[in-house]
Amino acid sequence: MRIRLLSCLTVFTLFFSMAQSALTQESPAAVTLYAELGENAGISQIVDHMLALALQDARIKDSFRDSNLKRLASLLKEQFCVLSDGPCRYSGDGMKETHEGLQITSAQFNALAEDLQIAMEQVGIASRLQNRLIARLAPMKRDIVHARP
Ligand code: HEM
Repeated sequence: MRIRLLSCLTVFTLFFSMAQSALTQESPAAVTLYAELGENAGISQIVDHMLALALQDARIKDSFRDSNLKRLASLLKEQFCVLSDGPCRYSGDGMKETHEGLQITSAQFNALAEDLQIAMEQVGIASRLQNRLIARLAPMKRDIVHARP
């Protein structure tokens, strides 16, 4: 009797721990935004498309006239990776010190966000994920916008 009870308990414990590990693996909370965006390859595509659009966008293209675009692209990729909980380190300068002298307006910030959204659409990112990345960038606005209107 005692042996039967013990083996019942063992089977129950085994079943419970298998169910728990399946749940943990499949839980949406365990999937990072980084993974959903396609990891480094996906983020790289997004940033390249966004910069291509920004450089043709009459509202903001002049801001990038004197920029080192290779450095900018590489730092944006690092930053998007960190922001989406990827395994990266951002090695660039702070947002405030970088953008302080550029006199960027709120409309220009929104223009870049729009270009980012179009870029994500172009590479096939679902709108649910587009919104999640944009929501993580939005708080940076106060460090980037230094001019009116
Ligand atoms: C959420 C929005 C933005 C993010 C996340 C962002 C991010 C960055 C990053 C990571 C850098 C590189 C920093 C470094 O050189 O160490 C940078 C530089 C720069 N950003 Fe932004 N930025 C944003 C918005 C904007 C907007 C709206 C403009 C202009 C319309 C802009 C213009 C620039 C320029 C011109 C540089 C290069 C400065 C240089 O060449 O030294 N940024 N930005």
